[in-house]
Amino acid sequence: MSVHAQTFPEHFTFGVATSAYQVEGGIENDWAEWERAGKLKEPHARCGPAVDHWNRFEEDYALARAVGATAFRISLEWARVEPEPGRFDEAALEAYRERLTRMRAHGLRPVVTLHHFTHPTWFAGLTPWHLPASVEAFRRYVRRVAPLLEGLDALVISFNEPMVLLLGGYLQGAIPPGIADGPRTMAAMENMVRSHAAARQELLERLGRVELGISQNMLAFAPDRWWHPMDRALVQLSAQAYNHAFHEALSSGKLRVSMPGVASTRVDIPAARDSVEFVGVNYYTRAHLRFVPRPPFIEFKYRDRRERGYTDIGWEDWPEGFLQILREVRRYGRPVWITENGIDDRDGQRRPSYIHEHLAQVLTARAEGVDVRGYLYWSLLDNFEWLEGWGPRFGLYHVDFQTLERRPTPACDYYRAVATGRRLITPAEATQPSAAR
Ligand code: FCB
Repeated sequence: MSVHAQTFPEHFTFGVATSAYQVEGGIENDWAEWERAGKLKEPHARCGPAVDHWNRFEEDYALARAVGATAFRISLEWARVEPEPGRFDEAALEAYRERLTRMRAHGLRPVVTLHHFTHPTWFAGLTPWHLPASVEAFRRYVRRVAPLLEGLDALVISFNEPMVLLLGGYLQGAIPPGIADGPRTMAAMENMVRSHAAARQELLERLGRVELGISQNMLAFAPDRWWHPMDRALVQLSAQAYNHAFHEALSSGKLRVSMPGVASTRVDIPAARDSVEFVGVNYYTRAHLRFVPRPPFIEFKYRDRRERGYTDIGWEDWPEGFLQILREVRRYGRPVWITENGIDDRDGQRRPSYIHEHLAQVLTARAEGVDVRGYLYWSLLDNFEWLEGWGPRFGLYHVDFQTLERRPTPACDYYRAVATGRRLITPAEATQPSAAR
């Protein structure tokens, strides 16, 4: 690699990512209900006080700065803001405004997700995503939170990983609201695309201009049997439906999904055309797909083909897939933000090389002309992982879940060295003080 190819330009942003429910604590929403019903993979896990970010936000902003971050991704918790339909909690709105203002004062650009998987408890009963009324409900919420973003030059994400919510919550019934129905899944998807467009209108009306996108979970799909035509066909269909259909709808205004026998839709939503300023990518791993001759006809697995060893949550460590995905999103002709990338690494030893190898792919993509503008590591802190509870550790900082004390993992020094040096060095180089700083 040439020196140029190892360097991040001045305007490239390094940051960290979080979401409200996973870190704030004290939130009552549909996920908390789900936990109490014992429906998580870890049926006794409770998020509860999470890692108390709601009270420790100043400390956490300082921790982000200490690893060289200049952007901080949070989400607004809809359930805090609108605890009853149409009743907004002014104190909660004020509290978010205070947090965003302090974030700015710490030199962190806010990256604000409006919706990160969770809902007020009334939502599923009244306006679940498969009903058209969900669009107006989301619009009403966005209208009230839009003023919080005034004057902050925030990057705004309407939805985090909409396909994860749709697959998990509407097609498989594994997460709230626990529906398992193909046509409703497609109706929900359509309404989420419409809601994104509605959110955009509200934001533009209030702010004049906005930098808006979604964060899409993108998997590097591969056939389980490289020679098998059905496995290969599944890869094509899944990449289109899971990775691209949402992005495409926000770019062309045409929502197209075709998963024969599972879920399909074809609808034009002109309001969604050209409705993003950037493409948000969450990349973690590769998924192998295998055709099985009985419903649901598809088997999904993580394999360790390169024998790098699975990450602690059991996902394949496959940095090459990151480049593949970055090349694919180039087609949207928009700047790209990595809104999440990270590793569950419970002893913290492997994280620096994971980051190193993934940033190397970002540099290669940039050298090829993919306009990647920023990288937000998931996550600043260990936190509550949706289905697994308190086992996984994605944090740059280790959190003692009893005392809530934050302690740096080895990746803190590494991340700071790269983010402030703006050169991709190896973890070994970062431990030699002269090379790192
Ligand atoms: C992503 C989620 C994020 C976090 C990471 C590990 O799918 O967006 O909240 O749980 O996975």
